[in-house]
Amino acid sequence: MCGIISAVSCKDVTAMLIDGLSRLEYRGYDSCGIAIYGKKNLRRVRSMKRVSDLSKQIIENSLYGCIGLAHTRWATHGMPSTHNAHPHFSNLDSGKPRIALVHNGIIENYDELRVKLQKSGYAFESQTDTEVLVHLINYNYDGDIFRTVQKVTKLLTGTYAIAVFCTDEPYRIIGSCKGAPLVLGIGDNENFLASDVLAISGKANEVIYLDDGDIVDIQCNNFLILDSYNVPVNRKKYPKSSFMGVVELGAYRHYMQKEIFEQPRAVADTLQEVNALSEDIFGIESIEIFRDIDSVLIIACGTSYYAGMTAKYWIESIAKIRVSVEIASEYRYRDSVVNPKSLVLVISQSGETSDTLSALKHSISLGMNYNMAICNSPTSAIVRECKLCYITRAGIEIGVASTKAFTTQLSVLFLLSITLAKNRSILSKDNEITFLKALRHLPAALSSVLDLEPLVISWANHFANKENALFLGRGMHYPIALEGALKMKEISYIHAEAYPAGELKHGPLALVTDNMPVVVVAPKDILLEKLKSNMQEVQARGGKLYVFADADSKINDDSIHLIRMPENYGMLSPILHTIPLQLLAYHTACIRGTDVDKPRNLAKSVTVE
Ligand code: F6R
Repeated sequence: MCGIISAVSCKDVTAMLIDGLSRLEYRGYDSCGIAIYGKKNLRRVRSMKRVSDLSKQIIENSLYGCIGLAHTRWATHGMPSTHNAHPHFSNLDSGKPRIALVHNGIIENYDELRVKLQKSGYAFESQTDTEVLVHLINYNYDGDIFRTVQKVTKLLTGTYAIAVFCTDEPYRIIGSCKGAPLVLGIGDNENFLASDVLAISGKANEVIYLDDGDIVDIQCNNFLILDSYNVPVNRKKYPKSSFMGVVELGAYRHYMQKEIFEQPRAVADTLQEVNALSEDIFGIESIEIFRDIDSVLIIACGTSYYAGMTAKYWIESIAKIRVSVEIASEYRYRDSVVNPKSLVLVISQSGETSDTLSALKHSISLGMNYNMAICNSPTSAIVRECKLCYITRAGIEIGVASTKAFTTQLSVLFLLSITLAKNRSILSKDNEITFLKALRHLPAALSSVLDLEPLVISWANHFANKENALFLGRGMHYPIALEGALKMKEISYIHAEAYPAGELKHGPLALVTDNMPVVVVAPKDILLEKLKSNMQEVQARGGKLYVFADADSKINDDSIHLIRMPENYGMLSPILHTIPLQLLAYHTACIRGTDVDKPRNLAKSVTVE
């Protein structure tokens, strides 16, 4: 999704802005741009290519200066094009640019604002909602850009994080945000604004995460933040150590591969404080809340939604609490039955996903006040909105396709299931010991599964020339089949569908031919015999089976491609079975030569609806 980095410094900022933009590339974008104020001139270069192309243009155009705004755009209003790329300018009557602006989010009332501005003589060169905003600021400019931005943001409906510069006051950048993240970075004789702390890590000594409605004025050696009531505020400063993530690729070919292999450590870090099952693992307030709830409503999108689906099996089976799982973008717009005794559990890697955040706010507006986030970003909007939270410690995830975030979410969801059971006094001591032991052993178990990579690579060669694939699972492994299919379609662009295997004969069996690889997640559990019948249904139609089975499962058929998992992991088996499916998608994509870390049309944090 869109990314912002801007800086006011006592030295040239171009190289630093380009570096910041490259760090934002992982979020996905279709165009990019940079505006620099230097030698009393505001100039910009924009590109439909990669950030590296901007670097070339900067050199060709001798662009340098101490103030700059830069942006990566992911098209919402208007096609990807150079004209629609940010920064947007609004000019003086002489044609000289006066205001420059970069924007993340969506201005919902842009149409009516555009009509008014057109009547006042403004001509538009793009189809974006952002250009409306830059002209609106120019139109309302009263000699003080801070005051003007304060006034103009009051006229907006929608979401925004903006950085604005005015040539009449060439020593400051103004930022503001609502419903989209904006971070202030404090450096030595320089200050920054960015949409993602990663863009300024290595540059800022401290950061401040701005609140909704904040407006900030950054200058070389100082800054000022006013809240939405125009009151100066001192927001908490976070030291460098809190945001310096390890982002080097090392020996890996892609970030996705690195992140797949980081899973044992990510899960260990996430569960590091869980030595015993104390009732307040999810916060002291959780003890009362968990006692009072009569159900759980899980809300999430994409991979996080599949984590929620898996949790339904665990929570209902272990804690005996009714669970419903909703796709955030559906829940927020439908009439649902309100239950104030339900725990609203939002799952999000980024904590910024617009649909999930809006669905959470919607549940609160309906009077559902027990809420909890499972999130990988401690300072995100979703975490800030929730009463309870558990932060996964997956570390930064750069690959667009989520991997380690998913398995850490699952680990926490299992922990939640046993905590809820304990809280309701339905967890036997034996089970408590067994489950905790299994959680502690999980990182080692994940490491052994990663050793299967060479076997999975040999399968990937069979998949690489296919255009369709089916994924089957049953019970708590059905969401894992869904996740495997999602990974496959996201990064290899193979059309992959997942079904609960029992559904096969109710429709999808019609798709099975000898050209259809069928992946089966087949652990040794009470559904294995049923699953074997489903596998026979596939074989009878000529379908080719690729089965992940447990070490001691009785599956002995030479016509089946079989990979045996190192150990049977009982209730936690979905977490282990995720790994070979990630590896299968990854290696298939590598053979097909796709852009694995930045698959087409996708973005890392989906901060727009
Ligand atoms: C798939 C993927 C997405 C995200 C979804 C939600 O690999 O990454 O489906 O899971 O966009 O994102 P978060 O978890 O950040 O809310």
